[in-house]
Amino acid sequence: MVDLHGKGFGTRAVHGAGPPDPVTGAVVPAISLATTFQQEAVGKPLAYEYSRSGNPTRTALEAHLAALEGAPHGFSFASGLAAEDALLRLVPAGHHALLPHDAYGGTIRLALQVHAPAGLAVDTVDLTDLDAVAAAWQPGTRMVWIETPSNPWLHIVDIEAVSALAHQRGAFVVVDNTFATPALQQPLALGADVAVHSSTKYLGGHSDVVGGFVATHDDDLAERIGFLQNAAGAVPGPLDCYLVHRGAKTLQLRMARHSESAAALAERLAGHPAVAQVLYPGLPSHPGHAVAARQMSAFGGMVSIRLAGGEAAALELCRRTEIFTLAESLGAVESLIEHPGRMTHASVAGSANEVPEDLVRLSVGIEDVDDLLADLDQALDGGA
Ligand SMILES: Cc1ncc(COP(=O)(O)O)c(C=O)c1O
Repeated sequence: MVDLHGKGFGTRAVHGAGPPDPVTGAVVPAISLATTFQQEAVGKPLAYEYSRSGNPTRTALEAHLAALEGAPHGFSFASGLAAEDALLRLVPAGHHALLPHDAYGGTIRLALQVHAPAGLAVDTVDLTDLDAVAAAWQPGTRMVWIETPSNPWLHIVDIEAVSALAHQRGAFVVVDNTFATPALQQPLALGADVAVHSSTKYLGGHSDVVGGFVATHDDDLAERIGFLQNAAGAVPGPLDCYLVHRGAKTLQLRMARHSESAAALAERLAGHPAVAQVLYPGLPSHPGHAVAARQMSAFGGMVSIRLAGGEAAALELCRRTEIFTLAESLGAVESLIEHPGRMTHASVAGSANEVPEDLVRLSVGIEDVDDLLADLDQALDGGA
């Protein structure tokens, strides 16, 4: 095994994936399909006993992704929401969690429609406003949930400042690091306790696997998350683990390209008459730009825009792009376009967390940036 101590992210992304197989020399992990493992004697398993509790391909993935988040503990789940569900279960019933008012719609739905009826007190708050966080605090607040950049607003939350406030008051901090990924942002180094991912997105990177991941450096939280992973059983299968493991090796390269192209698109869109507003943390005009520049090494591949022509123009743009495929999800090699109000965030329509109907979200892929620029130009000009 290469000594990864002090090595750069790109080296860790490749060699942190694990050493060659000691028996065969294979340079990638085997996809271990076995559900059960022979025991030496009654109650004396070898390394594994049953694949819900542990599986060699899953172990390889968990060690790999944990290393990228700079964490000693990593747990993979069947989806991002399965991972989030396990984290929300860490707050005892009758206690309180603070979530961002602009979190991913599925996160809000999970907290308000699944956990709140089971006894979790939940409030959503603008986490960019520390006074609002302090005002929303309750004696029973045990968890603060950050999502930065947020989906689809691209709001930036100061991880260091919110973590300091939460720790002072006895709560732990979760950061949904799906948009930034550990290649661009290291929440645990910034003071958070837990990083969570929809690995369906950039970690997998190729629109071919649904998964979730949790990293932490807190031994106590790790023990409880590990228990929940096995007890509730929302684990990924070995092939899914393999696909995320493979995708993560190229994370640094892909994030650099996504970020570079998104920055070029954001700049071009900001000057377009059909566009009322560009939401991209890399733009100096973005209210979170200074914090993003401090806590991220680049600004990521997600860009949201608000159309001057309202919902009709937003829907027309989604209809007209050719390279940007109209589809939910994000973070893969191909560029995607979607209308959050009617698609990914439809579950929060009519609530305080609703996304405006003039907003379109772009997941900028790794195609040639000139082709992406031309595609948006033709789609916007045709719809004007
Ligand atoms: C920021 C964020 N967190 C969590 C999720 C949920 O992940 P999954 O769809 O893998 O369950 C998503 C999905 O879009 C997301 O965008």
